[in-house]
Amino acid sequence: AIAKDALMTQPVTLSTAGSIAVIEINNPPVNALSQAVRQGLLDAVVQADADAAVTAIVILGAGRSFPAGADIKEFGQPMQDPHLPDVIDRIESCSKPVVAALHGTALGGGFEIALGSHYRIAVPSARVGLPEIHLGLIPGAGGTQRLPRLCGAAMALDIMFKGTPISAQDALAAGLIDRLAEGDLRQAALIYAAELQTPRRSREATSGLADKAAFEAALTDAEETARSRMRGQMAPLKIVQCLRACITQPFADGRLFERDCFFECLASEQSKGMIHAFFAQRASAKVPEASRAEPRPLNRLGVVGGGTMGAGITVAALNSGLPVTMIERDHDSLARGRANVEQVYDRLIAKGRMSEAQKSDIMARYQGSTQFADLSEVDMVIEAVFERLDVKRAVFEQLDKVLKPDAVLASNTSYIDIDEISSVTNRRKHVLGLHFFSPANIMKLLEIVVPQSAADDVVATGFALAKILGKIPVRAGNSPGFIGNRILGKYGDCAAHMMEDGATPYEIDAAIVEFGYPMGLHAMYDLAGLDIGWDNRKAAQGKRNPAERYVEIADRICERGWFGQKTGRGFYLYPDGARIGAPDPEILALIEAERAKKSITARRFTAEEIMARYLAAMVNEACEVLREGVALKPSDIDVTFVHGYGFPRYRGGPMNYADSYGLARMLDDIRRYGQHDPIFWQASPLLVELVASGQTFNDLNKG
Ligand code: 3HC
Ligand code: NAI
Repeated sequence: AIAKDALMTQPVTLSTAGSIAVIEINNPPVNALSQAVRQGLLDAVVQADADAAVTAIVILGAGRSFPAGADIKEFGQPMQDPHLPDVIDRIESCSKPVVAALHGTALGGGFEIALGSHYRIAVPSARVGLPEIHLGLIPGAGGTQRLPRLCGAAMALDIMFKGTPISAQDALAAGLIDRLAEGDLRQAALIYAAELQTPRRSREATSGLADKAAFEAALTDAEETARSRMRGQMAPLKIVQCLRACITQPFADGRLFERDCFFECLASEQSKGMIHAFFAQRASAKVPEASRAEPRPLNRLGVVGGGTMGAGITVAALNSGLPVTMIERDHDSLARGRANVEQVYDRLIAKGRMSEAQKSDIMARYQGSTQFADLSEVDMVIEAVFERLDVKRAVFEQLDKVLKPDAVLASNTSYIDIDEISSVTNRRKHVLGLHFFSPANIMKLLEIVVPQSAADDVVATGFALAKILGKIPVRAGNSPGFIGNRILGKYGDCAAHMMEDGATPYEIDAAIVEFGYPMGLHAMYDLAGLDIGWDNRKAAQGKRNPAERYVEIADRICERGWFGQKTGRGFYLYPDGARIGAPDPEILALIEAERAKKSITARRFTAEEIMARYLAAMVNEACEVLREGVALKPSDIDVTFVHGYGFPRYRGGPMNYADSYGLARMLDDIRRYGQHDPIFWQASPLLVELVASGQTFNDLNKG
C-alpha cells in the first residue's frame, strides 16, 4: 500500500511494455507542466534513452488530457530548472523514436512536447493548439520554430493568433499529427511505436519552409493584423518576429530568440493582466451557494419573450443542445420570435458556416407557444419580456400557476428589483435574475443575480446553466443595475460631465479606444439604442437628488428622435445604414448650446485626463459595489467588465488596472476632482481604507 501511495504522488512514471518505454504524466487536473513534471519527464526520457532494452518511447497523459501547457501558477515566480525548452530538446535528441500519444487538450507547452517528439498519434476527440496569446505570451518552448517547419507560416500563424485549439482531424490533414488512434490510445500508441525504426526531428523538417514567398506573404498579412485588429498587444508582433527567424536563422538561434521574446512578454503588464483575467474567470464560478448545494437537473428550458434577448437566449440554449419552449403573447409575436431565432442560423447558412440540415437539427429542439400551460414540463424559465414591472409581474403570476414545483424562475431584467417581481408568486425561493448581454448568443458574460430569498440550489442551477451555455457567470447582488450597469451608470455620468465641460464625445471615444476598448462609450450607446437610457432617466425623474449634477445633452438628442444606429443618427451619423458612425457637427452645436445655457466655458481635456477620470469613476463605484456585497470580490468586477463591456483583457479588468495604476494615486485624483464636484466625487470608504492599510484589490481577492 505504501508503494502504491508513493506511486500515485509521482507526477511522471516510467514503465515498459515489451521493449517500449511508456512515460506517463500524472498531474491532475490538466497535467500542467510544473517543475516536478518537467524534472520527472527529463529523468524518464534520459533513463529510457539509456536503456539498451528499450527500442521506442511513448509519452502520454494520465486522466483527462495530455498536458494542457506550462503551469500558469508558476508564472511570476522565478523559473526553476529544468526549463521546458531544454526538456523538449532532450526528447527530440533521443536516439530512439519517441511517440506522443494525445488525448484531451494538448495545448501550449503540452503541444510543444508533442512537436518535439518524433511522431504523434491522437484519439479523434483530441484537440491541439498554442493558446499562449490569450495569456499575453508566445509559445516559449520551440513552438514558434517547430510548428511552421511542419505546416508553413499561414497555418502556424492562424493557430498562434487565434489561440483556439484545432481538431485531431484538422491536425492530421495538416501533417501535425501522423495517425488517429482507433480504440484504446495506449494500445494504439504501443503498436505504432513498435513499427517505428528511426527518430524524425521537427527541427529538421523543411516542407513548411519550402515556399519562401508564401511564408513571407503570410508574415506580412499577420503583421498587418497584429497592428490593426490586435492593436496595442505585444505578443502578436513577437510571434511574427519569431516566425521570421525561422527563415532567417538556424533553428538553434531561432529557439533562443523565441526564448528571449517569451520572457519579455512574461515580464509585461499585458501578460500579467491576461493571466489575472484567466484566473479571475475561473474564480468567478466559485460561489458559496454552489459549494453548499447541487444544481437541479436542467433538461428543458422555457423562454418567455422572443424579442432581442429572448431570441438570443433561445439560440444560446439550442446551440448547447437544450430543448427550448418559447412563449410569446400572440401568434404574430410568436412568428416574429421564431423568425428572430431562425435569422441567426440563416445568416450562418448565407456565410457558408452552417448547412440547412444542421439548422433543421437545431430547430427540432425548438417549440413555440402562446400558452403558458406548455411550460409545465420545463426545468427552468427565463423571462425576457418588456422592461416593465407590471408586465413582468403578470408573467410571473402565470408561471406560478403552471410550472412544476421545483422549476427555477429567472428574469433577464436589466434594472428591476427581482424581489418586486417574485413577490407576486408563492415560490420566491425559486426565483433569481439571469442577466444576459446582447447579443445573448454571442456575449459571454452572465450576471447571476441572487435575491436574499433564493435557495442555494436555485443559485447553483443558475451557475450550472452558465456552464451548459458556455457563459462566464458572475454572482451579483440584487441591487439596481446589478454590478455592470450600475457601474456603467456612474462612469457614463462622468463622461457626460467631461462632455459638458469641454471634451467632445468623439475625443472621449478616441481616448477609450486608445486605451484598448473595441469601441467608445458613445458609439456603444448608439449601438444599444439611446432610448433605453432615456426611458431610465425619465423613470428616475423626481427620485434624483436635485443637488446632483445632471447633464441634459443625451435628452436633447433623444428628443429629436435620434436613438443611435437604428435611427441613422445618435451621437454619430450613420448614413445609408453605415455601421461605423461619423462625427456630427450638429451634435457639437447642441452640446455647445447646453454649455451656454449653464454658462460653462469649454476647456480642453487630454486623452490621459479623460481616461484617469473615466476609470476613477468606474473603480470608485466598483468599491461601493464591493462594500455593499453586490459583488463578492474585485476579480468578479474585472470579469464583468472584460466579458460584458469590452474592457481590454490585456489590462486584466478595472480593478487589476487600478492596482497597477496605484490606489493611493487614484484616491488623490478623486479628491482633487472632488474639489469641483464634491457630490459626484465622494471617495468610497473602501478605497480610503485600502489606501490607509496599504492593501490592493488583489489582496482582497486572495482574502
Ligand atoms: N496551469 C495551471 N493550472 C491550469 C492550467 C495551466 N496551464 N490550465 C488549467 N488549469 C487549472 C484551472 O485553473 C482550473 O483550476 P481550478 O479548478 O482550481 O479552478 C483547472 O485547471 C481546470 O481548468 P478549467 O476550469 O479551465 O477546465 P476546462 O476543462 O474548462 O478547460 C483547459 C481545460 C482547456 C485546459 C483550460 O483550462 C485552458 O485553456 N487552460 C489553459 C491552457 C493554456 O493556456 N496553456 C498554455 C499555457 S502557457 C505555455 O504553455 C507556455 C509554453 O509555451 C512555454
Ligand atoms: P424586446 O422588446 O426586443 O422583446 C420583448 C418581447 O417580449 C417582445 O417580443 C414581446 O412581444 C414579448 N412580450 C411582451 N409581453 C409579453 C408577455 N406577456 N408574454 C410573452 N411575451 C411577451 O425587448 P428586449 O430588448 O429583448 O428586452 C427584454 C428584457 O431583457 C428586458 O427586461 C430588458 O431590460 C432585458 N435586457 C435587454 C438587453 C438589451 O440589450 N436589449 C440586455 C439585457 C437585458
